Amino acid sequence: MDKVTIDGVELMLSHPDTSKIEWIGQHEIMERLLACWLVVDKRDVPLCPRLIGKPGVGKTTLAMAAAKKLQKPAYIYQCTMDTRPEDLIITPVLSEAGHISYHASPVVSAMLTGGICILDEGNRMSEKSWASLAPLLDHRRYVESVLAGIKTYIPQAKGQKFLFFKIL
Ligand SMILES: Nc1ncnc2c1ncn2[C@@H]1O[C@H](COP(=O)(O)OP(=O)(O)O)[C@@H](O)[C@H]1O
Ligand SMILES: [Mg+2]
Repeated sequence: MDKVTIDGVELMLSHPDTSKIEWIGQHEIMERLLACWLVVDKRDVPLCPRLIGKPGVGKTTLAMAAAKKLQKPAYIYQCTMDTRPEDLIITPVLSEAGHISYHASPVVSAMLTGGICILDEGNRMSEKSWASLAPLLDHRRYVESVLAGIKTYIPQAKGQKFLFFKIL
């Protein structure tokens, strides 16, 4: 498991998705999605596109295929109505030895590696959980973890930063 240290707190990163995905046809929708992440000026921030559609039309597949096309690690978070704000950011885990380790969510793992985060079935998630992502989805581009006592910024050094989410 990869680790990153932020403000003296060691974070264990999530595992990116490794499934073999192939997007067939429908090139226009793929191009439109990739266009959301184009940046021209270095002050530009990539958009956070939202995919909406009936079940089975290929939303999750498209998101994963887009990440593959850009050769970026894709971190998928499966949202539910029980998803809590801390689940989306950093979760403390008590180890056998009795010390606490902090696990970065797929959202934070994508931020820290310059990858893509797919919030799958985000429509199920509560307003409170969405609110915890507000500073990430607007121009501020950071999340705060009160549990780990740190404010996690997207590091600029990793180049293009993407965040992507979808709603069923
Ligand atoms: N354009 C496409 N290329 C390849 N597979 C597709 C495409 N559209 C849909 N599928 C397939 O259809 C199934 C359902 O797609 P999925 O992405 O899970 O839909 P959704 O997330 O919209 O409910 C998957 O098995 C996926 O592989
Ligand atoms: Mg889906």
